[in-house]
Amino acid sequence: MIPVILSGGSGSRLWPLSRKAFPKQFLALTAEQTLFQQTIERLAFEGMQPPLLVCNQEHRFIVKEQLAARKLSIQGLMLEPFGRNTAPAIAIAAMKLLEDGRDELLLVLPADHVIEDHKAFQRSLALATNAAENGEMVLFGIPATSPETGYGYIKCDHTQRNGLPEGVNRVTNFVEKPDEARAQQYVESGDYYWNSGMFLFRASVFLEELKKHDPDIYDTCWVALERSAKNGEEVLIDPATFACCPDNSIDYAVMEKTELACVVPMSAGWSDVGSWSSLWDVLEKDENGNVTRGDVIVEDSRNCLVHGNGKLVTVVGLDNIVVVETKDATMIAHKDKVQDVKKLVNKLDAMK
Ligand code: GDD
Ligand code: MG
Repeated sequence: MIPVILSGGSGSRLWPLSRKAFPKQFLALTAEQTLFQQTIERLAFEGMQPPLLVCNQEHRFIVKEQLAARKLSIQGLMLEPFGRNTAPAIAIAAMKLLEDGRDELLLVLPADHVIEDHKAFQRSLALATNAAENGEMVLFGIPATSPETGYGYIKCDHTQRNGLPEGVNRVTNFVEKPDEARAQQYVESGDYYWNSGMFLFRASVFLEELKKHDPDIYDTCWVALERSAKNGEEVLIDPATFACCPDNSIDYAVMEKTELACVVPMSAGWSDVGSWSSLWDVLEKDENGNVTRGDVIVEDSRNCLVHGNGKLVTVVGLDNIVVVETKDATMIAHKDKVQDVKKLVNKLDAMK
């Protein structure tokens, strides 16, 4: 099994700590290691090969530095000149492996998630392996507990077996990023999982489904790979061709449409650490529910996240507030509004 690690996102909702030039996957947010390093270290078990990485060429040196710092080995580094979202990123990895005559199982993993229970992760993976070997596209489902609009929602049918192993169920509905009303309905029904963003399938199965449902991406990626510059373990994707590639995620391009999707439930303390509030969720808190980092003094405050970075930061009388100080920017937000940090980043981009 070959892990394909996607590391091209920009993590804009964790601004000002996460930046385009240094996005969230390369930050040590929850432990001594960065999320990227944790993703690779989590794979140190039997049957798993060293990963193939797909990232933006701008991050090439950060990646190398972070691999060297933990003595982590990889089997290849695919560098995108710019992001075209996850469908093309996975396609170029699958195509590279097929080109090398290796039609193996690919475990697609985001580089920026937290998984607390490694054993539970491995158990779900063991269930998924058999199904993927039989040509299925396996999703890992997290029981949906709140109407998050940034996730894919998965419904399955426990009665449709057609040879599926125990614990793996046929997906009957996959909806990527529904609006809030729809997400609310899904959660209330109790029948839906969130898509964790991890996938397991054979390289050729994914490519066949991509060819069927998004032939533009399929065709463009083959040409971009053919014209790419190869240098040992590094592949630099041809910018002129990749520029013509449609921008789309695997979720919209393939998973909403394919009939091969099935799901394995996963209860492994998963978080995509997608916002300041989900970071607060996974971090250890003091007796008042506060998380503090750096040189920080907190008085008469509850459920806050206060991050200092050099300067002394002091807060008093705050409830559910996030304060993040960095060298060149300070961000203060209500914990219920942290999804909108992205809007601040968009405003900043527009000012440039
Ligand atoms: N190499 C590369 N190139 N990686 C990318 C690119 C790209 O162009 N775009 C995104 N990624 C990486 C991100 O770094 C992240 O690790 C992963 O691919 C998923 O991309 P996100 O942009 O974070 O996707 P999302 O969070 O909106 O949605 C996905 O994840 C959710 C769970 O966190 C979907 O799969 C949802 O269905 C899912 O619920
Ligand atoms: Mg994400």
